[in-house]
Amino acid sequence: MTWAEIDWTALGRHRERFLGAAPSEGPYWESERDLAGYDMTFGERIGWKWDAVLDELIIRGWKPDGGTVVDWGCGSGIAGRRVVGRFGHGNFKSMVVWDHSPLAADFARTRAGAAFPGLDVSVAPPGFLQGDEPIGLLVVSHVLNELSAAALGEVGELVARSRAVLWTEPGSRDSSRALGALREKWVGPFRVVAPCTHANPCPILGPGNERHWCHHFAAPPPAIFADSNWVKFGKRAGIDLRSCPYSFIALDRDWTGGSNSLSRVIGRPEDFKPYVRLLNCDSSGLAELTVMKRNCAALCKELAKTRRPLVYEWVRNGATIASGSSALR
Ligand SMILES: C[S@@+](CC[C@H](N)C(=O)[O-])C[C@H]1O[C@@H](n2cnc3c(N)ncnc32)[C@H](O)[C@@H]1O
Repeated sequence: MTWAEIDWTALGRHRERFLGAAPSEGPYWESERDLAGYDMTFGERIGWKWDAVLDELIIRGWKPDGGTVVDWGCGSGIAGRRVVGRFGHGNFKSMVVWDHSPLAADFARTRAGAAFPGLDVSVAPPGFLQGDEPIGLLVVSHVLNELSAAALGEVGELVARSRAVLWTEPGSRDSSRALGALREKWVGPFRVVAPCTHANPCPILGPGNERHWCHHFAAPPPAIFADSNWVKFGKRAGIDLRSCPYSFIALDRDWTGGSNSLSRVIGRPEDFKPYVRLLNCDSSGLAELTVMKRNCAALCKELAKTRRPLVYEWVRNGATIASGSSALR
């Protein structure tokens, strides 16, 4: 697929549907070209979000522990490929992709098979989804707002069979808060790897924090801003490519890492003349903190510019940050 071959009408249809954010009434992929165009554009942008999620997981010391990786609601399969590509396909026994669109499942299987020769990749065989075979890693991406209660229940059954779960959503208020509610519901036997730096109930879902939602921003590859094809895509799709918000949860039953002296910054720090203000989440809850430029000039610059996930260890005087170092060096 090249940019010249993209079916822009089909991409426009997808955009309308994503904006509509309604449970899907059934498979909507129309052709392989449709999926290839999505994979190269919307899908690639989702890939940047996964890159940020994976950066954070790796630097926090997490890695999958083998077994079968399942990409559920796979679409073109970009999420599963990003995950397997990052950790190496030798780390998995097999890969299963599933989408209620047979066209999509087949496309994802073919692409993953080509990307990872030697890995056993299949579309979920009959009985797999209803069975009880353990799943090493369940990957779910950008599907929550399309799911009926019954479909979400099916994913819940898969979560119950999984050692680890990575789930990424677009970063909108609704999808983030819905994902947060699933964290609360499913966390029981799991350890939360990220984005939380603690195992407490999510403070954003608590009283008084209704205006907030847990989201972060990925950094697209700088080269796309000078690429006329990406610029055209951004215009036609009505997307500001500079802004790439996402929300995610990473759960693992057996994880023993993590440090609850860390903080996760939510959203983007805001830059004011004398200080930077940020929304901070840690084991003591959610708080608006400030960093004074006159005391912490380098830290303020870093907070404004860094492309890394914002995980920090702070020294604080109440709501003022006295110093801080990134946990992701
Ligand atoms: C927005 S696309 C995201 C695709 C892919 N996960 C990604 O991140 O690019 C949502 C996908 O979920 C699939 N889907 C929606 N409802 C589903 C269901 N009940 N069972 C399986 N797949 C479903 C759709 O067919 C579509 O491929």
